[in-house]
Formats: sequence, C-alpha cells, structure tokens
Amino acid sequence: MAFAWFPLYVFLFGSLFGDLLAQEHFIVGGQNAAEGDAPYQVSLQTLVGSHLCGGAIISDRWILTAGHCVKGYPASRLQVASGTVRYAQPGALYYPEAIYLHCNYDSPKYHNDIGLLKVNETIGFDALTQAVQLPTSPLSPQGTSELIFTGWGAQSAAGSLPAQLQRVQQQHLSRQACRSLLSGYEDLELGPGHICAYRQANIGACHGDSGGPLVHRGTTLVGILNFFVPCAQGVPDLFTDVMYYHDWMRQTISGNGKCAQVNHQTIIG
Ligand SMILES: *[C@@H]1O[C@H](CO)[C@@H](O)[C@H](O)[C@H]1NC(C)=O
Repeated sequence: MAFAWFPLYVFLFGSLFGDLLAQEHFIVGGQNAAEGDAPYQVSLQTLVGSHLCGGAIISDRWILTAGHCVKGYPASRLQVASGTVRYAQPGALYYPEAIYLHCNYDSPKYHNDIGLLKVNETIGFDALTQAVQLPTSPLSPQGTSELIFTGWGAQSAAGSLPAQLQRVQQQHLSRQACRSLLSGYEDLELGPGHICAYRQANIGACHGDSGGPLVHRGTTLVGILNFFVPCAQGVPDLFTDVMYYHDWMRQTISGNGKCAQVNHQTIIG
C-alpha cells in the first residue's frame, strides 16, 4: 500500500505548493511591471482578446515578434494591444494589414524565428506607448550584459497567465556557456541568429512569453523570445538576435524583402 500514497502525497503537496508559488512568482520569478516600464511591449491577441504572444513596437507602423507566433495566422485574425501593463485592458488596439515571416523560418529547427507585423493605422505614442530602439552593435560576446525581459507568460508550466505584465532581470550568456548548458538538448542547435539569456533556475520564460522583448539598458531591443524549456528549469532561454536580422528587417520594412529560398514571405489576411 505504501507506494499508493506516494503519488497522492506528491499531488497534494505539489498543488498546495504550486498555489503558494503562483501567488508570488510570475513570468517565472519576475515582478509586476509598473505602468510605462516597458512602453514598447505589446500583447498579440486573437480578435476576442486572448493573449497569444508578446511583441515589441519598433516604429509607428511596425511590430516585431517571433515567427512561430504569427505562422499560419491570417493578418485579419490578430490584434495588437498596446499602452498597457494589463493585456485585457489595452490602451489602444491595432490591426495588422500584413504579416511578414522570415523565408527560412524554422529551417533549421528554431532558427530564423522572426516575424514583422504592419498595422493599418499609425500607432499613437505617449508615456505608455513608445517604440523601442534597434541595436546598432552586438552585445559583448563575454555575456556580461544585464538585460530586462517582460511578458504576460505563465508563472509556472501549468499556471495561468498573470493579468499584469511581469518583468525579470536577465543576463546575456556567452555562446560557449550557453552551448554547454544546452548540451542535453540535442535538437537545439545554437545558430548565428540566436542569443541566450540566463540568470539562474527558477527565473525565466514560460508559456505566453514567446515573441516578447529582451532589452538592454532599458532602451534597446536585443532579442525576441524564441525557445525555452518550460519553465525556468535551469536551462537558458533562447532569443532571436535582433542585430543579426537587421538587414532582413530593413529590407522587409522598405518593401524590398526578397527570399533566396522562397517558402512563404507574406500572409495577407
Ligand atoms: C484597420 O483594420 C480594422 C480591422 O479590420 C478596421 O476596423 C479599421 O477600420 C482599419 N483602419 C483603417 C485606417 O483602415
């Protein structure tokens, strides 16, 4: 009989402990963001306001997010909530008129995970709504830069989304250190377009954080959340390196995006 008690004990303890954790920890291990803390943050949503992914305002018509957040969605099925730390109470809603997905999205797996949304109206900027700057140089390869990540992702792998935006202090991780921490994950190949962030176990990204912004010095967007092992289990979070995709973004925004190996460039809803 003794063995039969074991799962019950784990279940009871796990759910009690889980509830306690859920009250205190979000993202995983983050804190409530104050109004205006991350004015570039958006919530990418279905038209009934369900949060799908994070994203960042990079100009008054363009949102940057992860490719896997927009893959397969016609533009007409998405909305962008901005100017708020509560995704269910947007400062404003914008509607994409076109979605651009990287031609080599997910090839190889988890690579080129980047997408741009063009909204059909000019985004109004104010204290709670601003574009984030794009980087002009890469982060130091030593991986010492302090970074801020924000998102409405779950506070635990089985948890629900917090109403209020969470922020967490992250650290850029050198490629060498990242590769060694990822060594147990054979299908995860660190590519030239990835950067890693990691501080410690119990701090990191979870479901709903994808596509969200990793920012340096409070002003510069260095990464977009690409891949995480759910959730905050002591494995670095992988981000799409915004600097690496500078040319792709510039060409796409200027209307000169070309695919060397065309799969799918534009989905117009
Ligand atoms: C933008 O799209 C939304 C949703 O389709 C529509 O209601 C709105 O009128 C559009 N705005 C403009 C300026 O076309």
